[in-house]
Amino acid sequence: MGQPLTRRIILDTDLGMGQPGSDIDDGFALALAVADPGIDVDLVTTVNGNADVDTVTRLTLELLQRLGRPDVPVARGAATPLLSRWSRAAPDVRRVDPPGTDASGRSPGHAALRIVERVMAEPGELTLVCIAPLTNVALALAIEPRVARSVAEIVMMGGVFLEHTNVAAMPGEFNFWVDPHAAAAVFDSGAPIRAVGLDVTRRVRLTRAHAARMAGSAGGFGRFAAACTDEWISHNERMNPGDEREQGSCALHDPLAVASVVHPELLTWRPARVAVETDGRHTRGVAVADLLTTSEAAEPNCRIAVDVNVDAFTDLFLDRIHGLDQKDRP
Ligand code: RIB
Ligand code: CA
Repeated sequence: MGQPLTRRIILDTDLGMGQPGSDIDDGFALALAVADPGIDVDLVTTVNGNADVDTVTRLTLELLQRLGRPDVPVARGAATPLLSRWSRAAPDVRRVDPPGTDASGRSPGHAALRIVERVMAEPGELTLVCIAPLTNVALALAIEPRVARSVAEIVMMGGVFLEHTNVAAMPGEFNFWVDPHAAAAVFDSGAPIRAVGLDVTRRVRLTRAHAARMAGSAGGFGRFAAACTDEWISHNERMNPGDEREQGSCALHDPLAVASVVHPELLTWRPARVAVETDGRHTRGVAVADLLTTSEAAEPNCRIAVDVNVDAFTDLFLDRIHGLDQKDRP
């Protein structure tokens, strides 16, 4: 694997990694970002998605403590999507901790404003890594459209571009489904975008054997990670009895997007013109990806991931998580 690039990032997350049994992928994505020597986490912003934004904020602060990085600032963001009131205000089946009390350790100011401030203060220096509904990013772009040209890049976990979910209740991917208007605004902004969708993220999976390997790590994070993985696999098995893929393993959606920031070679990228359906009765959040194969094709507005080196990513992920336990806590 090539020498990793070095990137300063703002990580926008709907982290729900609380007690074992809650959604793990944002938490593992944050752990991977902290662990990768090629990534410097400047700021974490939180948004409604896997849990209500106060719970997400509190769990993010708690996980940063657990990772030995209480120095990373966390800014609370949007509590609802742009044009709806949808929120996981109460703990849902994903068993996050009880609804958030105020996360007193968070830094002041709304996440969207903090994104604008940081990006405009250092044009070209910061990469926005979005692993949640895109509400904060769309708000930042509405407040200051020049963010689109000042951000080094937007790398997101979101969408599904070469297939769809075959689930009528959510034909698009979750992050786009929660806030389709925000997703549409981001793709229309002119920002340089790489999108890592379900096409590839559903193929990178943690198994119970991987969990056992993490449990064997010397330090405490591996054991916590293993317990969370086992419980989340069991939860997904119960929630998706008819989906073979969800039996015995869980997808690492957000960690793959984070890894691709400085290890783009893990994925195969293709230019596309993506639009997001916002109001279709049956198609809310569906991404329409024109692969620019016809003579009338429009200009691309992003690159989408169309293939993944599963073994290379899995090895990188497990090595990085293992390495977290070797660090001396500050
Ligand atoms: O569809 C996967 C995405 O939805 C991930 O970001 C996961 O954390 C959930 O938010
Ligand atoms: Ca997420």
